[in-house]
Amino acid sequence: MNILYISPYDPAPWQRQIEQLLPQARFRVWAEGAADAAADVDYILCWKPEPGLLARFPGARAIFNLGAGVDALLQDPALPSTVPIFRLVDPVLTAGMVEYVVHWVLHFHRDFHGYARRQRQGLWQEHAPPFTARRGVGFLGLGQLAGASARALQALGFANIAAWSRRAKAHPGIESFAGDPELKSFLARTEILVTLLPLTPATSGIVNTQTLACLADGACVINPGRGALIDDDALLQALNSGKVQAAALDTFATEPLPAEHPYWTHPRVFMTPHIASITVAGAAAGGIVAGIQKIEAGEMPDNVVDLQHGY
Ligand code: NDP
Ligand code: OXD
Repeated sequence: MNILYISPYDPAPWQRQIEQLLPQARFRVWAEGAADAAADVDYILCWKPEPGLLARFPGARAIFNLGAGVDALLQDPALPSTVPIFRLVDPVLTAGMVEYVVHWVLHFHRDFHGYARRQRQGLWQEHAPPFTARRGVGFLGLGQLAGASARALQALGFANIAAWSRRAKAHPGIESFAGDPELKSFLARTEILVTLLPLTPATSGIVNTQTLACLADGACVINPGRGALIDDDALLQALNSGKVQAAALDTFATEPLPAEHPYWTHPRVFMTPHIASITVAGAAAGGIVAGIQKIEAGEMPDNVVDLQHGY
């Protein structure tokens, strides 16, 4: 069995894991011109391959994306349509996202950004936060990562959580909104917005002038989803008008974020370089190997990408 690794990241940890968990496999690393790497590929493990590259392997049995988001893959017009694609769902990836979301929700809920600003102004000024149980936290998306993050917030006492997804959900204690007709009412009750949607044609630019206007006044925005979910000009305008009081952004339409972008210096924007959660080979390889073993046994692994909906 031949496994081909295509990624800008170091193959060594993946090779170690795959060779240990699947001793019968031959692990090869893609390099242009290396004819050996391209021959008889059974499985592909990849992250952001060059557009057009995957078309060279129409005989592969499956493509495993080494991250949760498949937007970069699906933007490839030459993607072979007959090879199933699986996205990454992994407990360590989920735990990282839960930490990121809980951190920023607490940060904004307790106004720590305001205290940091007042410290710089030499102001000793206290105020009580709103009741945790009443704070309106809203998730755009209620999949693997948003669901786990929402449950972690519930355990901390947040009891006014809602989520908007494509299909209605029945998660205990989370108010479910679904589809375009319910987006406005979801936003209107949201004081802290967390965007954990995949980037698809339907979600691109979903945080824009119209949707930001629907949020509670002085809302905060947390975006670990994808940068292009947000219309940056609209968010900057909302930050400058005070409609949005602060934003924590982990993902950007162009990464790395260009040096001249106003987010870099905006006093109420908190940036991280796409690290909300990171795929770790030592944790994620086991799930991928389990997926390969299922395919070898004639079964279908979980988390197959629905090409029609783009996630
Ligand atoms: P899932 O596929 O599990 O969940 C996606 C959610 O989005 C689902 O609830 C889905 O609705 C909803 N959704 C999709 N399209 C629409 C739509 N058109 N309208 C309304 N709701 C929609 O994804 P994950 O939770 O695993 O990951 C979410 C995203 O997080 C990834 O796609 C990736 O972009 C990002 N990510 C970022 C990382 C980082 O470090 N910054 C790390 C990992 C992921 P439904 O439930 O009805 O299907
Ligand atoms: C992912 C990511 O999608 O790292 O996993 O953004």
